[in-house]
Amino acid sequence: MSEILVTGATGNVGREIIAQFRTAGTAVRALVRNPESFPSSNSVQVVAGDLSQPDTLEKALAGFRTVFLIWPFLTTERAPAVLKSIAQHADRVVYLSSSGVNEDADRQTDPINQLHADMERLIIGADIAHTILRSDTIASNARGWAEQIRTTNVVRGPEIAPTAVIHERDVAAVAVRALTDDRNAGATYVLTGPEVLSREDQVRTIGEVIGRRTHFEPVPLQIAREQMLADGRPPALVEALVASAESRPASRLVTRVVEKITGAPARTFRSWANDHADIFI
Ligand SMILES: NC(=O)c1ccc[n+]([C@@H]2O[C@H](COP(=O)([O-])OP(=O)(O)OC[C@H]3O[C@@H](n4cnc5c(N)ncnc54)[C@H](OP(=O)(O)O)[C@@H]3O)[C@@H](O)[C@H]2O)c1
Repeated sequence: MSEILVTGATGNVGREIIAQFRTAGTAVRALVRNPESFPSSNSVQVVAGDLSQPDTLEKALAGFRTVFLIWPFLTTERAPAVLKSIAQHADRVVYLSSSGVNEDADRQTDPINQLHADMERLIIGADIAHTILRSDTIASNARGWAEQIRTTNVVRGPEIAPTAVIHERDVAAVAVRALTDDRNAGATYVLTGPEVLSREDQVRTIGEVIGRRTHFEPVPLQIAREQMLADGRPPALVEALVASAESRPASRLVTRVVEKITGAPARTFRSWANDHADIFI
């Protein structure tokens, strides 16, 4: 009987967590909005639930000890009700936050880090043991460049301060340890990849891996905003992304937490590009 519930199981990180538990033969339950579109197996039980509708979570949470929680929204409006449900059933939550959170600041520099800071505060205030994983930029964000690279070899977008981009497989590997070992309760881990990379570095690396000359072309924020709106992205999300691009401070932070927790060094962005080369060709 599984005692671990994974939210965001269809997402970049959640999918990897499920895959790693599947490989280890550990029983887990995946919380998804559309169960029919998610493959179940002997060790993976699929259950329907929507984090924006806390009353749909009761059945999913019954019998669970540990929950991997993501918060894919721009406000914490529904979070207290969700955390109350989790605290009634589980005894520990592992939350995926952001390395941009500055715990010494009253207000964070952008809405996305503010959201994560607010979530962390609510989790700490809820009556439940917790592990906070503050992740740096996840490499899978580069999936969004696939069409531009396939069709033009050029990625156009807002310039964002370089960060130590992390492979989603490493975020997942730390999450798996955090979910299965109670000694991680109370910890806050800052997770990064092994090197600080600009967007140009990442796009060039993808090109090297697929054997083409690719490059990044910075676009002024106002034009990037208009493009994202024209692509049909929700206005609130566009404003959050623009504010984040505008105000994220440059960071040289590289931590060894992935290696410390998993025993293996953090994967490079090049290895991520190798793992995902097919989507760029
Ligand atoms: N990207 C980064 O650089 C970064 C850095 C630090 C932290 N994070 C955090 O990491 C989280 C996970 O990242 P990711 O890349 O794995 O996300 P992702 O690939 O965008 O996936 C989002 C997941 O959220 C689920 N979801 C959306 N709305 C939901 C709802 N109402 N109820 C239940 N599930 C819902 C989606 O399920 P459906 O299949 O049903 O849509 C999907 O599984 C992000 O939400 C973010 O807060 C990201």
